[in-house]
Amino acid sequence: MDVKTAVLKMTENIEKVLVGKRRAVELVLTALLAGGHVLIEDVPGVGKTSLANALAKTIDCGFTRIQFTPDTLPSDVTGVSIYNMQSGTFEFSKGAVMNHIILADEINRTSPKTQASLLEAMEEGQVTVDGTTYPLPSPFMVIATQNPIDYLGTYNLPEAQLDRFMLKFSIGYPDAVDERAMLARYISAQPLNELQPVTDGDTILALQKAVREVSVHPDVMEYIVQIVAGTRTHRSLSLGASPRAGIALAHAAQATAAMQGRDFVIPDDVKAMVSPVLFHRLVLTPEARLEHQTTKSILDSILSGIKVPVF
Ligand SMILES: Nc1ncnc2c1ncn2[C@@H]1O[C@H](COP(=O)(O)OP(=O)(O)OP(=O)(O)O)[C@@H](O)[C@H]1O
Ligand SMILES: [Mg+2]
Repeated sequence: MDVKTAVLKMTENIEKVLVGKRRAVELVLTALLAGGHVLIEDVPGVGKTSLANALAKTIDCGFTRIQFTPDTLPSDVTGVSIYNMQSGTFEFSKGAVMNHIILADEINRTSPKTQASLLEAMEEGQVTVDGTTYPLPSPFMVIATQNPIDYLGTYNLPEAQLDRFMLKFSIGYPDAVDERAMLARYISAQPLNELQPVTDGDTILALQKAVREVSVHPDVMEYIVQIVAGTRTHRSLSLGASPRAGIALAHAAQATAAMQGRDFVIPDDVKAMVSPVLFHRLVLTPEARLEHQTTKSILDSILSGIKVPVF
């Protein structure tokens, strides 16, 4: 299966719904093919739900949206075992997470305990309820959203939870040209309702396998190691990238390479993924904040200090 062709087909299909947001669509597909989860941080109404919904339809996979509120319980997410009086046994009643594509809307509005139940499922690919383990369907992907503004009554995801998202990005407003195209398309139709699948879950699994076989030259691996190490020793960062982040960077770079039709990773694939993979995992020191340094400027300075392998 040719990853590049498949991705182009999926991208064009999703763009029937989400106008002018190619980068966001590509990032979601990158994470899907790399087997990761995404966190979308953006204001209301920019197409977060539409993107997740269009993705699920495009790949012909089941889709669940969980609207998180302060009173959402861990058992709403993972499921619960219920005693059946007739049979005298416990039966598992599935939670919302038991589906292929999960939209975890406004994840920072629910309690840390409920957040943790979702994030554990994401990390382990399974849920354990009352001592019994249930595997999640596959492919499985969580698309979580949060509002960038710190509202009263929100629970910011702790660093340990943020680390479980392979990529974080925002969608942003459409520019004027795209906004006109969007209005024209939506004025008398609902493109999402008309959207047809262009592939299926089994094909996605095959594409994921192909992505994992993309080769990473030892010099490129060393490049990744140096970037990750650079974040750990930088004086303006109080938290650098975890080993999990390094693996995520390598996997995301593999997907990027495959999406461009290559079966090997080049340094540019790594560079393209540095921001979406690392940004949300780094914590600035208070001094760096006072000096108005930004994560971006720090990452840029780390990258500029590392020799790029020649290909
Ligand atoms: N770039 C875009 N292209 C096409 N439609 C868009 C775009 N941005 C927003 N919309 C439209 O705006 C409406 C709201 O989008 P959607 O519900 O996906 O936003 P959201 O980001 O999930 O909002 P909320 O944060 O309130 O849940 C939908 O009708 C959607 O089609
Ligand atoms: Mg929404």
